[in-house]
Amino acid sequence: MEPNDDRATLLNSPSAHPPRAPGLDNQTLPLFSAKHAREDFPALNQEVNGQPLTYLDSGATALKPQCVIDAVSGVYGRDCANVHRGVHTLSQRATAAYEGTRDKVQGFLGASAREEILFTRGTTEGVNLVASSYGQHALGEGDEVLITALEHHSNIVPWQLACERAGAKLVVAPITDSGEVLLEDFCAKLTERTKVAAFAHVSNALGTVLPVEEMTHAAHDAGAVVLIDGAQGAPHLHVDVEELGCDFYAFSAHKLYAPTGVGVLYGRRALLEAMPPYQGGGDMIDRVTFERTTYNDLPYKFEAGTPNIAGVIGLGAALDYLQRLGPLGIEAHERAVLEYASDALGDIRGLRVVGDAPSKVAVISFVMEGAHPNDIGEILDQHGVAIRTGHHCAQPVMDRFSVPATARMSLGLYNTREDIDALLRGLHAVKKLFS
Ligand code: ALA
Repeated sequence: MEPNDDRATLLNSPSAHPPRAPGLDNQTLPLFSAKHAREDFPALNQEVNGQPLTYLDSGATALKPQCVIDAVSGVYGRDCANVHRGVHTLSQRATAAYEGTRDKVQGFLGASAREEILFTRGTTEGVNLVASSYGQHALGEGDEVLITALEHHSNIVPWQLACERAGAKLVVAPITDSGEVLLEDFCAKLTERTKVAAFAHVSNALGTVLPVEEMTHAAHDAGAVVLIDGAQGAPHLHVDVEELGCDFYAFSAHKLYAPTGVGVLYGRRALLEAMPPYQGGGDMIDRVTFERTTYNDLPYKFEAGTPNIAGVIGLGAALDYLQRLGPLGIEAHERAVLEYASDALGDIRGLRVVGDAPSKVAVISFVMEGAHPNDIGEILDQHGVAIRTGHHCAQPVMDRFSVPATARMSLGLYNTREDIDALLRGLHAVKKLFS
């Protein structure tokens, strides 16, 4: 294989996350070609500021393949009807496709029952649902909720609100200078008062992969339930909630090549059954009178109101697409591009990578001497390169590393080494301007 060939093979490829799909071994894994897959993403076929678009902002949102765009437009152009509410053909078609996605998500997450899959607006709503509903059910005065120092605001603020309501305490496990959560530091914060442990699968600001399986076991041993924020994990890593052992796992469709405004919350059935509803409205009820309302069965008890039907069906199309491409090949490809980018950025004098944990995926955050991250972002945009700059909704991470902001490149399945080369050309222009 040529060094610049973007076709990733898993043969002899060392992995922090070895393939776990049953029946597959390294000899039988298919090749994945990012160059080929790029043709599926119409947004890549454009120029920005006179340069071919280099999209390195999939951590914020991933581009959408044509099959997802077609699925969404098929809903509005053909099967435009509400779900669970009509005996007519259009409604039945829409309901079948919507519920079909639930089955696909169940398979994607390895959940044992489709009733454990709830559709939400995104990871943020998933965490809020658990913090609010499970919090109301289980948190009391003096209890503790354990998070880590690298969480996104959406896995901090909902717990602060829940703790305020219950008189509970938010406890934070520290991170190291390289942006790692060490298991012993996490375990040292677990007490008999810890009722919930909530942590990211992957840090959105740093790319660190957390030892979520071990953290989950430790939290369970202490008697806590576990929520994993999978917003940056599900798009890049194999997820099996039964293997992880977690009680809740939340992710967003839009980072997984699907539409915005849709997310998934996996919840263990016994917990979901015990929890009060999060929102009241249509579809979540069994019988309503002015005196008393009884609630629908799972998962509908937690899906009040007309959902994002087209978005959910678009998620189904995205999962089919990823399945066709081969998730394990994508994972290996992204790992190779990340390694190439890490080496290349490491060679730029005056550039400091923020967060160099040994186990990372898809993200490199960095700062450059003399240049504010926003300036870096604007100059790169002039070169057609899209990255995110700012605090990445993780201000405590910025505080931990004493930076106001970082520049962050993040990968999707369509990124190649040529994209990293375009980033490097832009960064050399930044250097020239600011040194
Ligand atoms: N949470 C998303 C990000 O990390 C928006 O950019």
